[in-house]
Amino acid sequence: MADAVAVWAVVVAAGSGERLGADHPKAFVRFGDNPLIAASVAALDDHPAIEGIVLVVPAGWEERATFMVDDIGAGKASIAIPGGATRSDSVAAGVAEVPADAAIILVHDAARPLIPADLIDRVLGGFADGADGVIPALPIDDTVKRVDAAGRVVDTLDRSELRTVQTPQAFLADVLRRAVAAPDRGTGTDCASLVERAGGTVATVLGDPRAMKITTRADLERAEELHRAD
Ligand code: C5P
Repeated sequence: MADAVAVWAVVVAAGSGERLGADHPKAFVRFGDNPLIAASVAALDDHPAIEGIVLVVPAGWEERATFMVDDIGAGKASIAIPGGATRSDSVAAGVAEVPADAAIILVHDAARPLIPADLIDRVLGGFADGADGVIPALPIDDTVKRVDAAGRVVDTLDRSELRTVQTPQAFLADVLRRAVAAPDRGTGTDCASLVERAGGTVATVLGDPRAMKITTRADLERAEELHRAD
């Protein structure tokens, strides 16, 4: 399905990334020879199914984003705009810039620099069963407990039913547009939660450990190792 239709990507990069302890926003910390955001933008730019890319960056960083795009020659990333107070606000701002004829919108966290091309293929290929959205998911190896405020165990969850989810997440454009426009869209930590809230169906495909999210310095070092090994 995705081969025949227009696919646009929105890269959300407007978070501060305080836990990284850097003096500028997480998306612009050094990753190899470039700012962190460059790695995922390059991967999306290289994918033949993607027509265009919208970058949502911290207010005041639009010009830096444009320099980065020129530097790496990512010709599909022609729009850089400021984000909002929450991830959902940033997604809404990005989605508003996607041309009306896009049928599928892929949303990606700049905090995940590594996007293997076959992960994009799997996500775009997952619409076959009539889903409104497709997200990459990984099984959980550890045992998972629910705890109370004091840290006492309340319950042990059935991990066979649980997944950790990643980005890029893909959605039918009209479904995502409606979900982000909902006045009570909330502050979900991913886009699928907005679509679920709006009554949409979301399918999962197998994720990839390389699409890990950078939160701490140790994550950054680990992702740089994986990047070098690629
Ligand atoms: O904070 P966290 O790492 O969960 O953010 C996930 C992604 O959402 C990051 O790429 C971050 O830059 C982005 N984000 C955003 N606007 C915000 C908050 C987060 O674009 N207000």
